[in-house]
Amino acid sequence: MSDHKGRITRDGIRIHDAADFAGMHKAGALAAQILDDVAEHVYPGQTTGAIDAFIEDQVNKAGAKSATIGYKGYKHASCISVNHVVCHGIPGDKKLKDGDILNIDVTVIVDGWFGDTSRMYVAGKLSRKTERLIQITHDSLMKGIEAVKPGNTFGDIGHAIQSFVEGQRMSVVRDFCGHGLGTVFHAPPNVLHYGRAGSGPMLEEGMFFTIEPMVNLGRPETKILADDWTAVTRDKSLSAQFEHSIGVTADGCEIFTLSPGGKFHPTY
Ligand code: MF3
Ligand code: CO
Ligand code: CO
Repeated sequence: MSDHKGRITRDGIRIHDAADFAGMHKAGALAAQILDDVAEHVYPGQTTGAIDAFIEDQVNKAGAKSATIGYKGYKHASCISVNHVVCHGIPGDKKLKDGDILNIDVTVIVDGWFGDTSRMYVAGKLSRKTERLIQITHDSLMKGIEAVKPGNTFGDIGHAIQSFVEGQRMSVVRDFCGHGLGTVFHAPPNVLHYGRAGSGPMLEEGMFFTIEPMVNLGRPETKILADDWTAVTRDKSLSAQFEHSIGVTADGCEIFTLSPGGKFHPTY
């Protein structure tokens, strides 16, 4: 919606108003509700295609639209990234095995506003090492979010995430980033999950964007498979990711994609 009201900063970042926050709140809540409700559909023997079908159904039942169906030729209502898949895993007929970890990423459009969020799930039993990867990844997202307030910079977000993750001897993926969003799926700026404190554009009240760090147990390098979507770790190490859509407020931020039921725990 290029005709949407509001100022745009010199970095190309749109500044939104209170009505826009309400729109994002609604879209984010639906995406988060779907991530709450999908949990019981994740178990050994289940296919990622069946999980995606449930998600598509939920989007339709809510009278919303999937942002990913038809996006650059993508055909599904979610990305489901299992084990060493970093992001953009394509749902299909492969069955989940006991101990598999997976990221489920859903983006919905409600009244023109985009709600984009992802969480980790486990099929069956979670090992200690994997539990730690998931916990650290979620903690890194929240450290990034804690750095969000007017006067800080995007570099402060990346620095908070990177310094925390590397301090735990894990690595941050560099090849994918968060993004501005609102009435479009992907807008400026690129929200890097690494970087120098104080670098990058200044955060201002009214900016909307995602933070979605991908953390690997091994090295940070990724490669894209022949399907042109699936990104995997080059060293085949396990990877985890969490994503929230947020809006900068006068003294911090609003997380649009918090679990509406508040029943979310990163390693359930
Ligand atoms: N939801 C993803 C993101 O966080 C984008 C998925 S695009 C798709 O930005 F086409 F792969 F679905
Ligand atoms: Co995103
Ligand atoms: Co997403």
